[in-house]
Amino acid sequence: MAESKNVRCLGVDFGNVNIKCAFFDDFGRPALVKIDGDTLFPNAFYLEPDGKTAKVGHRALAAAVLHPERLVTCYKLQMRKEAKVKLSDVELPLAKVGALVLTRVREAAEQAYAAPVEHIVLTVPANFPDDARVAVIEAARQAGFTVRRCIREPSAGLLAYVHAHPEDTRKFVAAYDFGGGTFDVSIMVVQGTHIDVLSSAGVHVGGETFNDLLSELILKKVSDQAGRKIAVTDLDPLSRYESRKAVEAGKILLGGGDVTEQPFAVSHQGRHWTVTVMRSEFEQVVDAPIRQTLECFDRALAEAEGVSRVDYVVMLGGTSNMLLVQTRLQEHVGRDTLVKLEVNPEAAVALGALYHCATIVGEDPAVNVVGKGDKVIPESEVYMHETVTYGAGIIVRFNGQYVNEVILPKNYPQGGKPVTRSFPLEKDWQTHCLLDVVQGAQGAPLKDCTLIGRLEMNGLTPEAVRRPRIEVSFQTDDTTGLLHVKAKDSVSGVEAEATLDAKKE
Ligand SMILES: Nc1ncnc2c1ncn2[C@@H]1O[C@H](COP(=O)(O)OP(=O)(O)OP(=O)(O)O)[C@@H](O)[C@H]1O
Ligand SMILES: [Mg+2]
Repeated sequence: MAESKNVRCLGVDFGNVNIKCAFFDDFGRPALVKIDGDTLFPNAFYLEPDGKTAKVGHRALAAAVLHPERLVTCYKLQMRKEAKVKLSDVELPLAKVGALVLTRVREAAEQAYAAPVEHIVLTVPANFPDDARVAVIEAARQAGFTVRRCIREPSAGLLAYVHAHPEDTRKFVAAYDFGGGTFDVSIMVVQGTHIDVLSSAGVHVGGETFNDLLSELILKKVSDQAGRKIAVTDLDPLSRYESRKAVEAGKILLGGGDVTEQPFAVSHQGRHWTVTVMRSEFEQVVDAPIRQTLECFDRALAEAEGVSRVDYVVMLGGTSNMLLVQTRLQEHVGRDTLVKLEVNPEAAVALGALYHCATIVGEDPAVNVVGKGDKVIPESEVYMHETVTYGAGIIVRFNGQYVNEVILPKNYPQGGKPVTRSFPLEKDWQTHCLLDVVQGAQGAPLKDCTLIGRLEMNGLTPEAVRRPRIEVSFQTDDTTGLLHVKAKDSVSGVEAEATLDAKKE
């Protein structure tokens, strides 16, 4: 019998503001890896003035006091294959920035396990473009990880919740994930140990949006005192850096329910101002982003077929710590729906990713999933099925119009069976054809769809009759979620295929 291999797993939540990395501790219990003494690792990068030495995490934030313009934060939403950041005279691809930050995470995880780690499950927002997802996966690969799967943040968060509360078997559940830069909500059905994702929605608002709005409010008050307009962009880098830190701390106090007013100091061109923000003023400015999250919640619920209300909502993400957000959500869903906040809503996504990693790695009979100290981890009993958050189809001629014929419907299982359909050619005696792959509603005219790719087929056997002959098949990749499109002419045998970034913003 072949000797089985010991494998250590990680769950990595690549957050806009904080990276969280989960592992199995000495006793086989899931826990977050501590990096520089903290379980929240700032997703921050700082390049020293020499243009070569980099600092990451807390060390980057601390070093930036001297040169705030050399600090990169909140870059996750801009991640693309070609995206770059310019720091003085050095240009760096964002995927490389992510890779350098994640390398530190890998080193810390290997220290925690006291052994090499390869296998991870990564998480990305539910509403994340495919090309951004590919760039995050690439960053993790460059950091030396083997990415076993990339799952959506709210799904991972709920997975951790279901593990922690196996007694909670009510059926329809929402995961409300309000983080630093993104809000995501997914509606899921929990049936015993199976979780199916029914629908998701998201919007780019988060704790950073609150910080921006509070900053604007403070500077409006400063401008009133100064008698001239002072915008955030007018502040020198150091004042902006200092004010950002004060805003972060002040936001937590104002949103917490105990403080009714909060002073803030701003320095600009050698002058200093002190202003006071009332809690009611803060609540007013952050009303819009909170409302946006509630609208997303309703949209996801409307899209979840056969579900009119959920049994409970699990709140995830750092911004869910805010009492104001908790109260508004509870009012919105009504008193009959339980709103649950885990002790540590920031950790849940990484923990869920860890469980998921252990499950998929453990499916291989030749491996043992082990924790620190070679303790074998019992196989996870909870399974989660991800779905794709977009629908995709091809453009066909129907009643004289070019319209979208959806092949892979929205919320179809990720990595599920391929969906195949057969189409006739448009004209008699046709020897080539172009297949336009689009994202859009069923029957939508071409002008209302987003073109995501094109397949070309040449050398088709001409025929006088039109009959279904071009077999088009759509499938999403289990690991990356990318769309793979194949076309085959059943008459001539000509084939074409492509892997596409299907989900656009
Ligand atoms: N008690 C609190 N009150 C208000 N905001 C808070 C509180 N605690 C944390 N936050 C905010 O939560 C955010 C960080 O949360 P989290 O680590 O979940 O985000 P992230 O995962 O990095 O972001 P994303 O999910 O958007 O990628 C920060 O904006 C922080 O200010
Ligand atoms: Mg998050």
